[in-house]
Amino acid sequence: MNEDTKNQGLLGAVDHFGIVDEKYMVISGWAVNVSDGLTAEKVFLANKDNQIIAECISDVLRPDLPDKKGFCFKVTAETILLNSNDSIKVYIYDQGKYFLINEKKINRTVDGQKKYWNKYLGIDPPMKMYEKYKTCKFIDSMAVFSAASTTVVCCDGPWEPECSTRRIVGEITTNQPFPIKELLLKRKEMIDKNKIGVFDGCRGCSLLREKYYIGSKYLLTNVNLSHYFTCNLKCKFCFTSMESYVRPIDTPGELMVQSIKYLLENEILDPNGNIDIAGGEPALMSHVHEFFAVLDDYNVSVNVCTNGAIFSQPIYNYLKQNPQKTILMISADSAVPQTYEEMKGVNCCDKVWENIKKYSTATNLKDRLKIKMIITDDNVNEVKEFIDKVESCGLNTVVVDFDRMIHDDERSPKIYQAIKLFVKYAREKNMTCLFGHEKVGFILETMDK
Ligand SMILES: C[S@@+](CC[C@H](N)C(=O)[O-])C[C@H]1O[C@@H](n2cnc3c(N)ncnc32)[C@H](O)[C@@H]1O
Ligand code: SF4
Ligand code: SF4
Repeated sequence: MNEDTKNQGLLGAVDHFGIVDEKYMVISGWAVNVSDGLTAEKVFLANKDNQIIAECISDVLRPDLPDKKGFCFKVTAETILLNSNDSIKVYIYDQGKYFLINEKKINRTVDGQKKYWNKYLGIDPPMKMYEKYKTCKFIDSMAVFSAASTTVVCCDGPWEPECSTRRIVGEITTNQPFPIKELLLKRKEMIDKNKIGVFDGCRGCSLLREKYYIGSKYLLTNVNLSHYFTCNLKCKFCFTSMESYVRPIDTPGELMVQSIKYLLENEILDPNGNIDIAGGEPALMSHVHEFFAVLDDYNVSVNVCTNGAIFSQPIYNYLKQNPQKTILMISADSAVPQTYEEMKGVNCCDKVWENIKKYSTATNLKDRLKIKMIITDDNVNEVKEFIDKVESCGLNTVVVDFDRMIHDDERSPKIYQAIKLFVKYAREKNMTCLFGHEKVGFILETMDK
């Protein structure tokens, strides 16, 4: 990029240059061409070598100043923080000219994780600030509570056909609320192996990516509760329903509640973090009351994933009392009773949709309820009916996914076409359409090219 330093025709300023949280930076301001008083065409963000790393138009409403127009970048910190003392530059562009309006040195050297590694293992973290390493959200900042009183560091299911199922970390017992030392040791093993090759359990996993380590304030930002496998349905596509699957013994609910309390009280889990409740079926989970009571003093968000076949009063009440920090995702999968039974093994389709309507009365924030459809060969022709049914319940957020137990190359093209139709039809109805897994969006994008 050639900068036009003499150009006086362009004027602009960066008003806000902030680190939003551990992940995001927001840079916003205004930019005009003084000769005509109009906003400049575009604004660019560049690194110290003048390589463009982001661009945006300069006539958007700014979230930090809602009545003002200007430019606003929201970029992940790792996109721009290449080294601890790198700088980033903001350019405005108009009529073929670039004009530098701001340059800022970034210096972030604080690594909050260090204190946990020092305290529990007596070593520094295996990853260094601003260095690239192969990781995923689980290795970075998650813990999964799995069945049989164990926690695991990784996804608690064979989401990728290539990677192995569990990496067991350690036991939760009444005397040990959380195996933090073992979790760190497992992370170290995975990070060290992924540095020189691939940790065996991660081989082939699409979530394993190279990224810059930019430090974090807490050891855990996300906890996944999959510590029990009891379920009232038998979905064909769910690994817990497979004949070969040996169902582990559920972890007692009181141990899980004790652990969550410990993690929050000892500032191991981010008080503004997130807890996913999966399972099994959360409506059957024991100690739900106690679990929600622990969360009352913190700002932790909760994502509950339920099949919706049993109405849970505690879940309803929590959503009603804490709509800002609760999301309820209901895996309905079909709106046609016959297909529903074929896919999910039980004849309770009408009950599920009745319960969806009931849950929808908990809050006016309709984006707090998401209705999910996994598209398989069974329901591939029912996309529109499904979305119409969601709309008839007064809801506007849908989630689409494919059966992740099937290899990408083995899925029929009809499924991808149906997902495309799902997205298109939902958008035509002004609904928010989300992907159950980032891979869905990625595959759709490559199909369009
Ligand atoms: C294991 S379920 C547990 C929660 C609850 N029973 C339910 O069905 O929502 C958690 C999530 O995994 C999803 N899931 C299960 N099997 C899947 C598969 N083969 N592919 C993609 N998602 C799957 C479900 O749709 C649900 O959203
Ligand atoms: S298998 Fe995938 S999701 Fe699990 S720890 Fe490895 S990279 Fe992360
Ligand atoms: S309802 Fe959920 S946990 Fe139960 S079989 Fe279906 S996907 Fe699996």
